[in-house]
Amino acid sequence: MTDRPESRPRCPHFSSGPCAKRPGWSPDALEAALVGRSHRAGPAKARIQEVSDRSRAILGIPSDWKLGLLPASDTGAVEAILWSVLGARGVDLLAWESFGAGWVSDAVKQLRLDDHRVLEADYGELPDLAAVDFERDVVFTWNGTTSGVRVPNADWIASDRLGLTICDATSAVFAMPLVWEKLDVVTWSWQKVLGGEAAHGMLALSPRAVERLESYEPPWPLPKIFRLTKGGKLNAGIFEGSTINTPSMLCVEDALDALRWADSLGGLPALIERCERNLAAVARWVEASAWADFLARVPETRSCTSICLRIVDAWADGRSGAEVAAAVKRVVRALDAEGVAYDIGSYRDAPAGLRLWGGATVETTDLEALLPWLDWAWEEARAGAD
Ligand SMILES: Cc1ncc(COP(=O)(O)O)c(C=O)c1O
Repeated sequence: MTDRPESRPRCPHFSSGPCAKRPGWSPDALEAALVGRSHRAGPAKARIQEVSDRSRAILGIPSDWKLGLLPASDTGAVEAILWSVLGARGVDLLAWESFGAGWVSDAVKQLRLDDHRVLEADYGELPDLAAVDFERDVVFTWNGTTSGVRVPNADWIASDRLGLTICDATSAVFAMPLVWEKLDVVTWSWQKVLGGEAAHGMLALSPRAVERLESYEPPWPLPKIFRLTKGGKLNAGIFEGSTINTPSMLCVEDALDALRWADSLGGLPALIERCERNLAAVARWVEASAWADFLARVPETRSCTSICLRIVDAWADGRSGAEVAAAVKRVVRALDAEGVAYDIGSYRDAPAGLRLWGGATVETTDLEALLPWLDWAWEEARAGAD
């Protein structure tokens, strides 16, 4: 029998979103928030703009790109751009897990685009990236949060493309090196790698994306919160601290706290290193595990943020999927009850398994302390099924 481990993670927060707050965070970090002020007041606008400026500096976003704050988290930013630019040319839609599939559904079932191709792959795999046609627009997710599969690099993206590359990077940004020259639209939410709050989305636009916005008018109506242009021109205010509607100044302050923390560590290289160290810690454990393996088949595609594991125990052979899923549920419940790990069950549409967040706010020592608990809990869960 595996002994019940003695030491516990200092922080049991391994959720894939909202993700763990930065080490040492407390509500005191929000003390200077401009609450009770108009978000249109000079100091508030400056605070909002500071989020963009600091994000741009850390991420190395080119100076000719626009970066603004939109409502409705990453989903808001993605949908504002899909509704604003799609339809101008054909589109290739890539999906290999639940969120990518959601964007396919938007384009096909909601916008009803005739000229679309869907390039799909099952959980654990990537679609054939060589089949993407860059004369068309391309919509993809840099890191598939629910399968733990990421694109390994941007080499597959054409530099001389005619279409726009639209990238949902919410669980990749601040954790993986994005290649800005290969991207035209990038979106994310604060709630992921830096442990900020949800409900606010970031939208980064290349000059080519701005050109599309200013030269194309979609045939469908756009609700106010999706409207990025005014009189045929980019609504520049959105990218200068004048949000479309009212943001939370508490969340803005929290985002600034997270960005200052990121700077204090050493910026993007340090953030990436923390995430890769977390993946490496899990990989060492997987290597020795007789019951868990990465859901991502190809090592180069394994996410360093949403680390997804599937069950490969011989015990599961000949048992139904429901039995295995029930055992996984027992693991998740037991570790929650122990206060060792919260929210580590795989996403509802993904194969039964575990998902450990390894983003920059998670300490490697906490992940390392969790891993023996997984062995203990799995053994207990298996015994409970016999
Ligand atoms: C890849 C991806 N896209 C979109 C979303 C939705 O994000 P939000 O709830 O911040 O809009 C998530 C959330 O986990 C995600 O992982």
